[in-house]
Amino acid sequence: MMQQLTMKPGNSLQGTVQVPGDKSISHRSVMFGAIAQGTTRVKGFLPGADCLATIACFRNMGVSITQESPTSLTIEGAGWEGLHEPNQLLDVGNSGTTIRLMLGILAGRSFYSAVAGDESIARRPMDRVLHPLREMGAQVDGRQGGRFTPLGIRGGGLQGIRYQSPVASAQIKSCLLLAGLQAKGETVVEEPYRSRDHSERMLRAFGAEVNSFSGGVSVRGGQQLSGREVRVPGDISSAAFPMIAALLVPGSQVTLQDVGVNPTRTGILDVLKAMGATIEVKETGEWCGEPVGDITISTSTLFGTEIGGELIPRLIDEIPIIAVAATQAKGKTIIRDAAELKVKETNRIAVTAGELTKLGARIEETEDGMVIEGGTPLTGGICDSRGDHRIGMATAIAGLIAKGGVTVHNADAINVSFPGFSELMSRLGKVHS
Ligand code: S3P
Repeated sequence: MMQQLTMKPGNSLQGTVQVPGDKSISHRSVMFGAIAQGTTRVKGFLPGADCLATIACFRNMGVSITQESPTSLTIEGAGWEGLHEPNQLLDVGNSGTTIRLMLGILAGRSFYSAVAGDESIARRPMDRVLHPLREMGAQVDGRQGGRFTPLGIRGGGLQGIRYQSPVASAQIKSCLLLAGLQAKGETVVEEPYRSRDHSERMLRAFGAEVNSFSGGVSVRGGQQLSGREVRVPGDISSAAFPMIAALLVPGSQVTLQDVGVNPTRTGILDVLKAMGATIEVKETGEWCGEPVGDITISTSTLFGTEIGGELIPRLIDEIPIIAVAATQAKGKTIIRDAAELKVKETNRIAVTAGELTKLGARIEETEDGMVIEGGTPLTGGICDSRGDHRIGMATAIAGLIAKGGVTVHNADAINVSFPGFSELMSRLGKVHS
């Protein structure tokens, strides 16, 4: 069903809430649990559409996965050999992480599988992982010369490689680590900037030896993983929406509890602090190798900033909502080195600029980012998620400061990563019509 969501200016936002589990870590808990020996129990799993697609794919390969509650899973892993040839299409839905990481696993399995997803997935580049996987020995074909879904893959007989990735991408790195664990010899992945390192941390927690060095990471082939308990921290990429809402709605103060604060993901905190935000982070522990903390944020006067270079992979998914904050800052915000945004769920440079411009924002698109004029009052209106969860949430949050509010069409896309988004926002303040 194509839902609509309306958010409009109301009173201040107050309270302490928990956002749903981290999407990246939830995917990995299912995949690593499926290829490990023994039982993996997951708490705090994100029951969003993307991660449910990962569960369905691994069930199709014969793995027993029980969902005791929306956020609790038990996965009975039987090692690499426990995966069986699926007799149906592996449908990844809207999830780039599912397809790219799973391809690394399938590349080492000698059976045949067919993999596809929705229309957004059909437009997203798969050659970035297929090219190195072919170099390792996997046989893969697909549309347009083997670059796009639907894909057919028959794996096995992999040889380790040294691969210099042209982009800082955790999906590429993780895919090659998963293939590398099944390959002969060593696999080395180098990247221009450090991307999120959840795979490295979780693989180590599952007993694998993974070597991180400045500029990359390597694994030896022939390693087995052991199942374990995983507690998934809250997703900082989801926390970014109530955080920026609290920054912008006058008189607000909000605490997000148990959020993952892995330094490869906290670019959003660095940027908001640089813009003048009052943010306090209290680290409370480490879950399965991932640092966790409580984030308290209150309404602040913001200033424009420049965002580029190594910061980009540390906040790539937060750029649509950062753009909303930047419309209200004093001065210009310049985002560069972010061409990767063009190959996300949508072209997020064009779509962020296009949707926010409908509300009166002044945003210039550039080749690798955007320039946002601050101090721009937003007017209400109608936006469309275009099937992109983060665009849906960013435009809804814009409604909290837009005269007359914003109605978001195709708001059901939000369930991809943040089920319960509008309910959580309502708990913090009166934001709905
Ligand atoms: C992810 C990596 C990032 C990110 C995506 C999740 C992951 O993608 O944008 O939402 O879980 O590995 P890239 O690897 O394409 O940068």
